Amino acid sequence: MSREMTWMGFLATMLIAVVMGINLIRESDRQSEAEIDLRIEAVTAGIDLYGENCAVCHGAAGEGLGSTPPLASEAVRGMDYLDVFRTIERGRYNTVMAAYGVNEGGVFANGEIDNLVAVIQYANWGAVATRVDELGLTPPEVVVVELTDETLDSVRSLPDGDALASGLEVYVTECAACHGANAEGTTLAPALNDADLRALNTDDALTRTIANGVPSTLMAGWDGALTREEIANLTLLIRRWEELDAAGVEMPVIETVPIDMSPEAIAQGEWLFSVTCTQCHGSAGYGTPLAPALNSQQFLSNTPDAAMQQIISLGVPGTVMPAWGGRFSEQDIASLVAYLRSLEATAPAIVETQTGAAGSGTTQGQGPPWQRNN
Ligand code: HEC
Ligand code: HEC
Ligand code: HEC
Repeated sequence: MSREMTWMGFLATMLIAVVMGINLIRESDRQSEAEIDLRIEAVTAGIDLYGENCAVCHGAAGEGLGSTPPLASEAVRGMDYLDVFRTIERGRYNTVMAAYGVNEGGVFANGEIDNLVAVIQYANWGAVATRVDELGLTPPEVVVVELTDETLDSVRSLPDGDALASGLEVYVTECAACHGANAEGTTLAPALNDADLRALNTDDALTRTIANGVPSTLMAGWDGALTREEIANLTLLIRRWEELDAAGVEMPVIETVPIDMSPEAIAQGEWLFSVTCTQCHGSAGYGTPLAPALNSQQFLSNTPDAAMQQIISLGVPGTVMPAWGGRFSEQDIASLVAYLRSLEATAPAIVETQTGAAGSGTTQGQGPPWQRNN
Protein backbone atom coordinates (compact mmCIF):
# COMPACT_ATOMS: atom_id res chain seq x y z
CA MET A 1 0.00 0.00 0.00
CA SER A 2 1.36 3.41 -0.95
CA ARG A 3 2.08 6.14 1.57
CA GLU A 4 -0.78 8.25 0.21
CA MET A 5 -3.25 5.39 0.70
CA THR A 6 -2.16 4.95 4.30
CA TRP A 7 -2.60 8.66 4.85
CA MET A 8 -5.99 8.66 3.20
CA GLY A 9 -7.01 5.82 5.48
CA PHE A 10 -5.75 7.70 8.50
CA LEU A 11 -7.54 10.88 7.45
CA ALA A 12 -10.78 9.01 6.81
CA THR A 13 -10.52 7.44 10.23
CA MET A 14 -9.95 10.86 11.78
CA LEU A 15 -12.90 12.19 9.84
CA ILE A 16 -15.08 9.40 11.18
CA ALA A 17 -13.83 10.07 14.69
CA VAL A 18 -14.54 13.79 14.35
CA VAL A 19 -17.99 13.27 12.89
CA MET A 20 -18.76 10.65 15.51
CA GLY A 21 -17.47 12.99 18.19
CA ILE A 22 -19.82 15.73 17.07
CA ASN A 23 -22.73 13.28 16.94
CA LEU A 24 -21.97 12.17 20.45
CA ILE A 25 -21.35 15.51 22.13
CA ARG A 26 -25.09 15.96 22.58
CA GLU A 27 -25.10 12.81 24.66
CA SER A 28 -21.95 13.63 26.58
CA ASP A 29 -23.76 14.75 29.69
CA ARG A 30 -24.95 11.18 30.10
CA GLN A 31 -21.82 9.41 28.90
CA SER A 32 -18.32 9.46 30.26
CA GLU A 33 -15.53 10.32 27.86
CA ALA A 34 -14.17 6.81 28.21
CA GLU A 35 -17.47 5.36 27.04
CA ILE A 36 -17.48 7.66 24.06
CA ASP A 37 -13.91 6.64 23.19
CA LEU A 38 -14.92 2.99 23.31
CA ARG A 39 -17.85 3.63 21.05
CA ILE A 40 -15.65 5.44 18.51
CA GLU A 41 -13.24 2.52 18.62
CA ALA A 42 -16.10 0.05 18.05
CA VAL A 43 -17.47 2.01 15.10
CA THR A 44 -14.02 2.36 13.55
CA ALA A 45 -13.43 -1.40 13.84
CA GLY A 46 -16.97 -2.21 12.67
CA ILE A 47 -16.85 -0.14 9.49
CA ASP A 48 -14.33 -2.41 7.77
CA LEU A 49 -16.36 -5.47 8.74
CA TYR A 50 -19.43 -3.74 7.37
CA GLY A 51 -17.65 -2.97 4.08
CA GLU A 52 -16.40 -6.52 3.69
CA ASN A 53 -19.60 -8.34 4.64
CA CYS A 54 -22.70 -6.20 4.48
CA ALA A 55 -22.25 -3.39 1.93
CA VAL A 56 -22.87 -5.79 -0.94
CA CYS A 57 -26.56 -6.00 0.03
CA HIS A 58 -27.20 -3.05 2.35
CA GLY A 59 -25.18 -0.57 0.25
CA ALA A 60 -21.96 1.37 0.94
CA ALA A 61 -23.97 4.08 2.75
CA GLY A 62 -26.50 1.71 4.31
CA GLU A 63 -29.03 2.79 1.68
CA GLY A 64 -30.21 -0.74 0.83
CA LEU A 65 -29.75 -2.21 -2.67
CA GLY A 66 -32.48 -3.88 -4.70
CA SER A 67 -34.87 -5.62 -2.31
CA THR A 68 -32.52 -5.39 0.69
CA PRO A 69 -33.80 -2.91 3.29
CA PRO A 70 -31.73 0.15 4.23
CA LEU A 71 -29.90 0.22 7.55
CA ALA A 72 -29.44 4.00 7.40
CA SER A 73 -32.88 4.82 8.75
CA GLU A 74 -34.27 6.25 11.96
CA ALA A 75 -36.29 3.06 12.41
CA VAL A 76 -33.22 0.81 12.39
CA ARG A 77 -31.15 3.27 14.42
CA GLY A 78 -33.89 3.29 17.02
CA MET A 79 -34.13 -0.51 17.23
CA ASP A 80 -33.35 -2.13 20.55
CA TYR A 81 -29.65 -3.05 20.85
CA LEU A 82 -30.43 -6.70 21.47
CA ASP A 83 -32.75 -6.93 18.46
CA VAL A 84 -30.04 -5.63 16.13
CA PHE A 85 -27.48 -7.94 17.74
CA ARG A 86 -29.73 -10.99 17.35
CA THR A 87 -30.61 -10.13 13.76
CA ILE A 88 -26.91 -10.18 12.86
CA GLU A 89 -26.14 -13.18 15.06
CA ARG A 90 -29.05 -15.36 14.02
CA GLY A 91 -30.11 -13.91 10.65
CA ARG A 92 -33.73 -13.72 9.56
CA TYR A 93 -35.32 -17.08 8.88
CA ASN A 94 -36.36 -17.66 5.26
CA THR A 95 -34.63 -14.53 3.92
CA VAL A 96 -31.15 -13.99 2.48
CA MET A 97 -30.15 -12.28 5.74
CA ALA A 98 -27.76 -14.97 6.98
CA ALA A 99 -26.81 -15.80 10.57
CA TYR A 100 -23.35 -14.34 11.15
CA GLY A 101 -22.74 -15.40 14.77
CA VAL A 102 -20.18 -18.18 15.34
CA ASN A 103 -22.71 -19.88 17.60
CA GLU A 104 -25.09 -20.08 14.65
CA GLY A 105 -22.51 -21.44 12.23
CA GLY A 106 -21.43 -17.99 11.05
CA VAL A 107 -18.10 -16.20 11.15
CA PHE A 108 -18.32 -13.41 13.77
CA ALA A 109 -17.47 -13.51 17.48
CA ASN A 110 -19.71 -11.50 19.81
CA GLY A 111 -17.22 -8.62 19.96
CA GLU A 112 -17.33 -8.26 16.18
CA ILE A 113 -21.12 -8.24 16.19
CA ASP A 114 -20.97 -5.53 18.89
CA ASN A 115 -18.82 -3.45 16.52
CA LEU A 116 -21.31 -3.94 13.69
CA VAL A 117 -24.18 -2.89 15.95
CA ALA A 118 -22.16 0.21 16.86
CA VAL A 119 -21.87 1.07 13.15
CA ILE A 120 -25.62 0.66 12.65
CA GLN A 121 -26.57 2.67 15.72
CA TYR A 122 -23.93 5.42 15.80
CA ALA A 123 -21.89 5.76 12.60
CA ASN A 124 -22.22 8.59 10.16
CA TRP A 125 -23.25 6.78 6.97
CA GLY A 126 -21.50 9.30 4.72
CA ALA A 127 -18.23 8.49 6.47
CA VAL A 128 -18.97 4.75 6.16
CA ALA A 129 -19.47 5.15 2.41
CA THR A 130 -16.12 6.98 2.14
CA ARG A 131 -14.30 4.21 3.98
CA VAL A 132 -16.06 1.43 2.02
CA ASP A 133 -15.06 3.15 -1.21
CA GLU A 134 -11.48 3.46 0.02
CA LEU A 135 -11.46 -0.29 0.64
CA GLY A 136 -12.59 -0.77 -2.97
CA LEU A 137 -15.76 -2.49 -1.76
CA THR A 138 -18.47 -0.20 -3.09
CA PRO A 139 -20.87 -2.63 -4.79
CA PRO A 140 -21.43 -2.30 -8.55
CA GLU A 141 -24.42 -0.34 -9.83
CA VAL A 142 -27.79 -2.01 -9.78
CA VAL A 143 -28.88 -3.17 -13.24
CA VAL A 144 -32.60 -3.66 -13.66
CA VAL A 145 -34.22 -5.50 -16.54
CA GLU A 146 -37.47 -3.66 -17.20
CA LEU A 147 -40.56 -4.31 -19.21
CA THR A 148 -41.51 -1.39 -21.40
CA ASP A 149 -44.59 0.67 -20.52
CA GLU A 150 -46.08 -0.24 -23.91
CA THR A 151 -45.92 -3.94 -23.12
CA LEU A 152 -47.43 -3.47 -19.67
CA ASP A 153 -50.16 -1.17 -20.98
CA SER A 154 -51.20 -3.63 -23.66
CA VAL A 155 -51.39 -6.40 -21.05
CA ARG A 156 -53.39 -4.16 -18.67
CA SER A 157 -55.96 -3.52 -21.36
CA LEU A 158 -56.94 -7.23 -21.34
CA PRO A 159 -59.67 -8.45 -18.93
CA ASP A 160 -58.24 -8.73 -15.40
CA GLY A 161 -55.19 -7.01 -16.90
CA ASP A 162 -53.69 -5.67 -13.66
CA ALA A 163 -53.24 -9.16 -12.26
CA LEU A 164 -51.84 -10.38 -15.59
CA ALA A 165 -49.41 -7.45 -15.77
CA SER A 166 -48.21 -8.08 -12.19
CA GLY A 167 -47.73 -11.74 -13.07
CA LEU A 168 -45.72 -10.78 -16.13
CA GLU A 169 -43.46 -8.49 -14.11
CA VAL A 170 -42.65 -11.33 -11.72
CA TYR A 171 -42.29 -13.76 -14.63
CA VAL A 172 -39.73 -11.60 -16.43
CA THR A 173 -37.50 -11.23 -13.38
CA GLU A 174 -37.85 -14.70 -11.85
CA CYS A 175 -38.82 -17.22 -14.50
CA ALA A 176 -37.96 -15.99 -18.02
CA ALA A 177 -34.26 -16.85 -17.86
CA CYS A 178 -35.11 -20.55 -17.59
CA HIS A 179 -38.52 -20.77 -19.30
CA GLY A 180 -37.82 -18.22 -22.06
CA ALA A 181 -38.96 -14.62 -22.59
CA ASN A 182 -42.17 -15.74 -24.24
CA ALA A 183 -42.49 -18.91 -22.11
CA GLU A 184 -41.38 -20.89 -25.16
CA GLY A 185 -38.94 -22.98 -23.08
CA THR A 186 -35.12 -23.18 -23.18
CA THR A 187 -32.52 -25.90 -22.87
CA LEU A 188 -32.90 -25.48 -19.10
CA ALA A 189 -36.66 -25.69 -18.68
CA PRO A 190 -39.85 -26.69 -20.53
CA ALA A 191 -42.27 -24.31 -22.29
CA LEU A 192 -45.01 -22.82 -20.12
CA ASN A 193 -46.86 -21.27 -23.07
CA ASP A 194 -48.12 -24.69 -24.02
CA ALA A 195 -51.62 -26.05 -24.74
CA ASP A 196 -50.85 -29.47 -23.26
CA LEU A 197 -49.65 -27.95 -20.01
CA ARG A 198 -52.86 -25.92 -19.79
CA ALA A 199 -55.02 -28.95 -20.58
CA LEU A 200 -53.27 -31.30 -18.17
CA ASN A 201 -53.10 -28.98 -15.16
CA THR A 202 -55.83 -27.34 -13.10
CA ASP A 203 -55.05 -23.91 -11.66
CA ASP A 204 -54.48 -25.60 -8.30
CA ALA A 205 -51.95 -27.97 -9.82
CA LEU A 206 -50.03 -25.12 -11.48
CA THR A 207 -50.06 -23.14 -8.24
CA ARG A 208 -48.71 -26.15 -6.34
CA THR A 209 -45.88 -26.66 -8.84
CA ILE A 210 -44.86 -23.01 -8.62
CA ALA A 211 -45.13 -22.90 -4.83
CA ASN A 212 -43.46 -26.24 -4.06
CA GLY A 213 -41.19 -26.71 -7.07
CA VAL A 214 -40.21 -30.04 -8.60
CA PRO A 215 -37.83 -31.84 -6.23
CA SER A 216 -34.27 -32.47 -7.46
CA THR A 217 -34.61 -30.26 -10.53
CA LEU A 218 -33.71 -26.63 -11.16
CA MET A 219 -37.38 -25.83 -10.53
CA ALA A 220 -37.26 -24.51 -6.97
CA GLY A 221 -40.28 -23.91 -4.77
CA TRP A 222 -41.18 -20.23 -4.76
CA ASP A 223 -43.45 -20.05 -1.73
CA GLY A 224 -40.67 -18.57 0.40
CA ALA A 225 -39.68 -15.95 -2.17
CA LEU A 226 -43.05 -14.94 -3.65
CA THR A 227 -46.37 -14.02 -2.01
CA ARG A 228 -49.55 -16.06 -2.54
CA GLU A 229 -50.88 -13.26 -4.69
CA GLU A 230 -47.78 -13.22 -6.88
CA ILE A 231 -48.03 -16.98 -7.36
CA ALA A 232 -51.75 -16.67 -8.17
CA ASN A 233 -50.90 -14.01 -10.78
CA LEU A 234 -48.29 -16.31 -12.32
CA THR A 235 -50.84 -19.13 -12.53
CA LEU A 236 -53.29 -16.76 -14.22
CA LEU A 237 -50.57 -15.68 -16.64
CA ILE A 238 -49.67 -19.26 -17.59
CA ARG A 239 -53.38 -20.09 -17.99
CA ARG A 240 -53.97 -17.13 -20.32
CA TRP A 241 -50.64 -16.78 -22.13
CA GLU A 242 -52.33 -17.47 -25.47
CA GLU A 243 -54.34 -14.26 -25.08
CA LEU A 244 -51.11 -12.27 -24.76
CA ASP A 245 -49.94 -13.76 -28.05
CA ALA A 246 -53.31 -13.09 -29.67
CA ALA A 247 -53.22 -9.46 -28.49
CA GLY A 248 -49.77 -9.08 -30.07
CA VAL A 249 -48.05 -8.16 -26.80
CA GLU A 250 -44.41 -7.43 -27.49
CA MET A 251 -42.33 -9.48 -25.07
CA PRO A 252 -38.93 -8.33 -23.78
CA VAL A 253 -35.87 -10.00 -25.19
CA ILE A 254 -33.69 -11.88 -22.74
CA GLU A 255 -30.13 -11.62 -23.95
CA THR A 256 -27.72 -14.40 -23.25
CA VAL A 257 -24.11 -13.45 -23.48
CA PRO A 258 -21.70 -16.17 -24.63
CA ILE A 259 -19.06 -16.79 -21.99
CA ASP A 260 -15.96 -14.81 -22.88
CA MET A 261 -12.93 -16.65 -21.51
CA SER A 262 -10.43 -13.86 -22.24
CA PRO A 263 -7.96 -13.02 -19.46
CA GLU A 264 -9.73 -9.63 -19.05
CA ALA A 265 -13.12 -11.28 -18.51
CA ILE A 266 -11.65 -13.76 -16.04
CA ALA A 267 -9.93 -10.93 -14.17
CA GLN A 268 -13.19 -8.97 -14.04
CA GLY A 269 -14.97 -12.06 -12.71
CA GLU A 270 -12.27 -12.63 -10.14
CA TRP A 271 -12.62 -9.05 -8.93
CA LEU A 272 -16.42 -9.29 -8.70
CA PHE A 273 -16.11 -12.61 -6.91
CA SER A 274 -13.71 -11.16 -4.35
CA VAL A 275 -16.02 -8.20 -3.70
CA THR A 276 -19.35 -10.01 -3.60
CA CYS A 277 -19.00 -13.75 -3.15
CA THR A 278 -16.00 -14.53 -0.95
CA GLN A 279 -17.70 -13.54 2.28
CA CYS A 280 -19.93 -16.58 1.83
CA HIS A 281 -18.10 -18.87 -0.62
CA GLY A 282 -14.62 -18.18 0.75
CA SER A 283 -11.52 -16.86 -0.98
CA ALA A 284 -11.02 -18.54 -4.37
CA GLY A 285 -14.37 -20.26 -3.81
CA TYR A 286 -13.15 -22.77 -1.23
CA GLY A 287 -16.32 -22.44 0.86
CA THR A 288 -17.10 -21.17 4.37
CA PRO A 289 -19.61 -22.15 7.04
CA LEU A 290 -22.08 -19.87 5.21
CA ALA A 291 -21.97 -21.43 1.76
CA PRO A 292 -20.61 -24.44 -0.16
CA ALA A 293 -17.32 -24.55 -2.05
CA LEU A 294 -17.56 -23.73 -5.76
CA ASN A 295 -13.93 -24.49 -6.48
CA SER A 296 -14.42 -28.26 -6.74
CA GLN A 297 -14.68 -30.78 -9.59
CA GLN A 298 -17.90 -32.04 -8.07
CA PHE A 299 -19.55 -28.69 -8.68
CA LEU A 300 -17.72 -27.44 -11.78
CA SER A 301 -17.81 -30.58 -13.92
CA ASN A 302 -21.51 -31.21 -13.22
CA THR A 303 -22.72 -27.68 -13.84
CA PRO A 304 -22.95 -26.30 -17.39
CA ASP A 305 -22.26 -22.59 -17.95
CA ALA A 306 -25.93 -21.80 -18.60
CA ALA A 307 -27.01 -23.43 -15.35
CA MET A 308 -24.32 -21.54 -13.45
CA GLN A 309 -25.53 -18.31 -15.01
CA GLN A 310 -29.10 -19.08 -13.92
CA ILE A 311 -28.12 -19.97 -10.38
CA ILE A 312 -26.07 -16.79 -9.98
CA SER A 313 -28.71 -14.65 -11.61
CA LEU A 314 -31.71 -16.14 -9.81
CA GLY A 315 -30.23 -17.28 -6.52
CA VAL A 316 -31.43 -20.37 -4.72
CA PRO A 317 -34.89 -19.67 -3.28
CA GLY A 318 -35.29 -20.61 0.36
CA THR A 319 -31.55 -20.29 1.01
CA VAL A 320 -29.28 -17.29 1.64
CA MET A 321 -27.89 -17.53 -1.91
CA PRO A 322 -29.01 -14.14 -3.24
CA ALA A 323 -30.33 -13.50 -6.75
CA TRP A 324 -27.71 -11.34 -8.43
CA GLY A 325 -29.62 -10.78 -11.67
CA GLY A 326 -31.07 -7.50 -10.44
CA ARG A 327 -27.64 -6.30 -9.42
CA PHE A 328 -25.28 -7.38 -12.16
CA SER A 329 -25.41 -7.11 -15.92
CA GLU A 330 -25.42 -10.30 -17.99
CA GLN A 331 -21.83 -9.44 -18.82
CA ASP A 332 -20.85 -9.34 -15.14
CA ILE A 333 -22.52 -12.68 -14.49
CA ALA A 334 -20.82 -14.16 -17.54
CA SER A 335 -17.48 -12.95 -16.19
CA LEU A 336 -18.22 -14.67 -12.86
CA VAL A 337 -18.93 -17.88 -14.75
CA ALA A 338 -15.70 -17.42 -16.74
CA TYR A 339 -13.78 -17.00 -13.48
CA LEU A 340 -15.33 -20.08 -11.86
CA ARG A 341 -14.78 -22.09 -15.06
CA SER A 342 -11.11 -21.00 -15.07
CA LEU A 343 -10.69 -22.78 -11.72
CA GLU A 344 -11.84 -26.12 -13.11
CA ALA A 345 -8.44 -27.27 -14.37
CA THR A 346 -6.91 -27.14 -10.89
CA ALA A 347 -9.97 -27.66 -8.68
CA PRO A 348 -9.83 -30.44 -6.08
CA ALA A 349 -12.37 -33.25 -6.46
CA ILE A 350 -14.43 -32.34 -3.40
CA VAL A 351 -13.88 -29.59 -0.86
CA GLU A 352 -14.90 -30.10 2.73
CA THR A 353 -16.19 -26.79 4.05
CA GLN A 354 -16.07 -26.01 7.74
CA THR A 355 -19.64 -27.25 8.15
CA GLY A 356 -18.47 -30.64 6.87
CA ALA A 357 -20.74 -30.29 3.85
CA ALA A 358 -19.35 -31.41 0.52
CA GLY A 359 -19.29 -28.99 -2.39
CA SER A 360 -22.77 -29.53 -3.72
CA GLY A 361 -24.65 -27.37 -1.25
CA THR A 362 -27.11 -30.16 -0.55
CA THR A 363 -26.89 -30.11 3.22
CA GLN A 364 -30.45 -31.17 3.88
CA GLY A 365 -31.17 -32.00 7.48
CA GLN A 366 -27.93 -30.57 8.81
CA GLY A 367 -26.01 -27.33 8.99
CA PRO A 368 -27.33 -24.00 10.16
CA PRO A 369 -31.06 -23.20 10.08
CA TRP A 370 -30.96 -20.97 7.00
CA GLN A 371 -29.86 -23.91 4.91
CA ARG A 372 -32.50 -26.24 6.30
CA ASN A 373 -35.61 -24.84 4.73
CA ASN A 374 -36.81 -26.37 1.46
C1 HEC B 1 -27.21 -11.26 0.91
C2 HEC B 1 -27.72 -9.97 1.29
C3 HEC B 1 -27.45 -9.51 2.72
C4 HEC B 1 -26.23 -9.41 3.37
C5 HEC B 1 -24.86 -9.79 2.84
C6 HEC B 1 -26.51 -8.84 4.66
N1 HEC B 1 -27.86 -8.61 4.79
FE1 HEC B 1 -28.76 -7.80 6.43
N2 HEC B 1 -30.57 -8.08 5.56
C7 HEC B 1 -30.78 -8.58 4.30
C8 HEC B 1 -32.22 -8.68 4.08
C9 HEC B 1 -32.91 -9.17 2.81
C10 HEC B 1 -32.85 -8.22 5.25
C11 HEC B 1 -34.35 -8.15 5.54
C12 HEC B 1 -34.77 -9.46 6.17
C13 HEC B 1 -36.24 -9.47 6.50
O1 HEC B 1 -37.05 -9.45 5.57
O2 HEC B 1 -36.54 -9.48 7.69
C14 HEC B 1 -31.77 -7.84 6.15
C15 HEC B 1 -31.99 -7.31 7.41
C16 HEC B 1 -31.01 -6.81 8.23
C17 HEC B 1 -31.24 -6.11 9.47
C18 HEC B 1 -32.61 -5.77 10.05
C19 HEC B 1 -33.10 -4.50 9.43
C20 HEC B 1 -34.52 -4.19 9.81
O3 HEC B 1 -35.06 -3.20 9.27
O4 HEC B 1 -35.13 -4.92 10.62
C21 HEC B 1 -30.02 -5.79 10.00
C22 HEC B 1 -29.75 -5.04 11.29
C23 HEC B 1 -29.02 -6.31 9.08
N3 HEC B 1 -29.66 -6.91 8.03
C24 HEC B 1 -27.66 -6.18 9.27
C25 HEC B 1 -26.71 -6.77 8.44
C26 HEC B 1 -25.30 -6.77 8.72
C27 HEC B 1 -24.63 -6.09 9.91
C28 HEC B 1 -24.71 -7.45 7.70
C29 HEC B 1 -23.24 -7.81 7.53
C30 HEC B 1 -22.64 -8.57 8.61
C31 HEC B 1 -25.76 -7.88 6.77
N4 HEC B 1 -26.95 -7.45 7.26
C32 HEC B 1 -25.54 -8.57 5.61
C33 HEC B 1 -29.82 -8.94 3.38
C34 HEC B 1 -28.46 -9.01 3.64
C1 HEC C 1 -33.48 -22.26 -12.73
C2 HEC C 1 -34.42 -22.56 -13.78
C3 HEC C 1 -35.91 -22.35 -13.50
C4 HEC C 1 -36.52 -21.22 -13.03
C5 HEC C 1 -35.88 -19.92 -12.62
C6 HEC C 1 -37.94 -21.50 -13.01
N1 HEC C 1 -38.18 -22.76 -13.45
FE1 HEC C 1 -40.01 -23.63 -13.66
N2 HEC C 1 -39.12 -25.35 -14.24
C7 HEC C 1 -37.76 -25.53 -14.40
C8 HEC C 1 -37.52 -26.92 -14.78
C9 HEC C 1 -36.17 -27.55 -15.06
C10 HEC C 1 -38.79 -27.54 -14.85
C11 HEC C 1 -39.09 -28.99 -15.20
C12 HEC C 1 -39.05 -29.80 -13.94
C13 HEC C 1 -39.30 -31.25 -14.23
O1 HEC C 1 -38.36 -31.90 -14.70
O2 HEC C 1 -40.44 -31.69 -14.01
C14 HEC C 1 -39.78 -26.52 -14.50
C15 HEC C 1 -41.13 -26.74 -14.45
C16 HEC C 1 -42.09 -25.77 -14.25
C17 HEC C 1 -43.52 -25.98 -14.33
C18 HEC C 1 -44.19 -27.28 -14.70
C19 HEC C 1 -44.15 -27.42 -16.19
C20 HEC C 1 -44.64 -28.76 -16.68
O3 HEC C 1 -44.48 -29.00 -17.90
O4 HEC C 1 -45.13 -29.56 -15.88
C21 HEC C 1 -44.12 -24.78 -14.08
C22 HEC C 1 -45.60 -24.48 -14.07
C23 HEC C 1 -43.06 -23.83 -13.83
N3 HEC C 1 -41.85 -24.46 -13.93
C24 HEC C 1 -43.26 -22.50 -13.53
C25 HEC C 1 -42.25 -21.62 -13.19
C26 HEC C 1 -42.47 -20.26 -12.76
C27 HEC C 1 -43.82 -19.59 -12.67
C28 HEC C 1 -41.25 -19.75 -12.47
C29 HEC C 1 -40.92 -18.37 -11.91
C30 HEC C 1 -41.51 -18.05 -10.64
C31 HEC C 1 -40.25 -20.77 -12.75
N4 HEC C 1 -40.90 -21.88 -13.18
C32 HEC C 1 -38.89 -20.58 -12.62
C33 HEC C 1 -36.77 -24.59 -14.24
C34 HEC C 1 -36.96 -23.32 -13.75
C1 HEC D 1 -25.05 -14.50 1.71
C2 HEC D 1 -24.25 -15.63 1.33
C3 HEC D 1 -23.96 -15.85 -0.14
C4 HEC D 1 -23.42 -14.96 -1.05
C5 HEC D 1 -23.04 -13.50 -0.80
C6 HEC D 1 -23.26 -15.69 -2.28
N1 HEC D 1 -23.72 -16.97 -2.15
FE1 HEC D 1 -23.75 -18.39 -3.60
N2 HEC D 1 -24.65 -19.70 -2.32
C7 HEC D 1 -24.91 -19.44 -0.98
C8 HEC D 1 -25.52 -20.64 -0.40
C9 HEC D 1 -25.97 -20.80 1.04
C10 HEC D 1 -25.59 -21.60 -1.43
C11 HEC D 1 -26.15 -23.02 -1.33
C12 HEC D 1 -27.63 -22.97 -1.63
C13 HEC D 1 -28.25 -24.36 -1.50
O1 HEC D 1 -28.37 -24.82 -0.37
O2 HEC D 1 -28.56 -24.95 -2.54
C14 HEC D 1 -25.03 -20.97 -2.61
C15 HEC D 1 -24.93 -21.61 -3.85
C16 HEC D 1 -24.28 -21.08 -4.96
C17 HEC D 1 -24.07 -21.77 -6.20
C18 HEC D 1 -24.55 -23.20 -6.51
C19 HEC D 1 -23.59 -24.16 -5.84
C20 HEC D 1 -24.02 -25.60 -5.94
O3 HEC D 1 -23.25 -26.42 -5.39
O4 HEC D 1 -25.08 -25.88 -6.50
C21 HEC D 1 -23.37 -20.93 -7.03
C22 HEC D 1 -22.92 -21.21 -8.46
C23 HEC D 1 -23.16 -19.71 -6.31
N3 HEC D 1 -23.72 -19.83 -5.05
C24 HEC D 1 -22.47 -18.62 -6.81
C25 HEC D 1 -22.33 -17.41 -6.13
C26 HEC D 1 -21.69 -16.26 -6.69
C27 HEC D 1 -21.04 -16.19 -8.06
C28 HEC D 1 -21.78 -15.27 -5.75
C29 HEC D 1 -21.32 -13.83 -5.86
C30 HEC D 1 -21.87 -13.08 -6.97
C31 HEC D 1 -22.47 -15.83 -4.59
N4 HEC D 1 -22.78 -17.13 -4.87
C32 HEC D 1 -22.72 -15.12 -3.42
C33 HEC D 1 -24.68 -18.27 -0.31
C34 HEC D 1 -24.15 -17.11 -0.86
